[in-house]
Amino acid sequence: MQPLFDALVAGDEEDLLARAIDPGRLPAHIAIIMDGNGRRAKRRGRPRVAGHSAGMGPVRVVIETCAQMGLKALTLYAFSVENWKRPRAEVEMLWRLMRSYLRSELPEIQRQGIRLHAIGRLDALPAQVRAELEDALAQTAGNRGLQVNLAINYGGRAEIVDAVKALVEEARRREITIDEAAIAARLYTAGIPDPDLLIRTSGEMRVSNFLLWQIAYAELYVTETLWPDFTRAELLRAILDYQKRDRRFGGLGSRAPAPVEAPLVEALGVPTR
Ligand code: FPP
Repeated sequence: MQPLFDALVAGDEEDLLARAIDPGRLPAHIAIIMDGNGRRAKRRGRPRVAGHSAGMGPVRVVIETCAQMGLKALTLYAFSVENWKRPRAEVEMLWRLMRSYLRSELPEIQRQGIRLHAIGRLDALPAQVRAELEDALAQTAGNRGLQVNLAINYGGRAEIVDAVKALVEEARRREITIDEAAIAARLYTAGIPDPDLLIRTSGEMRVSNFLLWQIAYAELYVTETLWPDFTRAELLRAILDYQKRDRRFGGLGSRAPAPVEAPLVEALGVPTR
């Protein structure tokens, strides 16, 4: 957390929020559905693509803040397998933005020791986008700080299909055990801890085919804020909210009642055994 404190102005809102966070219980992995770019632009009488441009600011802020907090992973839903249905000009603008982000931010990403990773069906990306993306991934592959997973041409169901295909293929060649670990090991996120916290902006109560397997026990934080208006303060508030949750993973967790003492059990007539 110290690099974050160093970057904040002592006593201002962000600093107070950051100091309220328990550094021992940070989420290891945050995933974000960055929604509301189009609506933000429309409300301002601008074309939808202006919303995507404005969405790049929070991308930088969130990546920087997660790196300064020392989180392990951040996954950003940048382009879904369904997004190809959008007008061609909008899709092309998204590719342009991604390329310009990679070019302009790479030095800062390197400075912060961030490792870029991409998840999704990357073979369907325009050749130039793919080439620049792979170059950026290769350049940051040795970094040991925050891992940023860019979900590009990503779909949760497509990911599970790809994992099952890989399993079937392997099963043809050798005997393998098919269990949860075997599937997890063949997802695009193999080796990355599942998200602890899933943030969605713009108020929609949906998971939109994002990390369907991995968010089984993620805590959800949905905010009405549109993505381009998402701030560092709101990220810190989401983490504070996460730290209030009682994560039970299907068990009884910390809210489980204390074991009933034997004399009381007897008084209630419950067999003790
Ligand atoms: C959803 O808003 C947002 C997207 C489909 C794209 C998000 C992509 C970026 C912010 C750029 C990401 C780039 C990098 C490098 C991570 P929407 O257009 O669906 O909003 P609406 O629901 O208001 O129409």
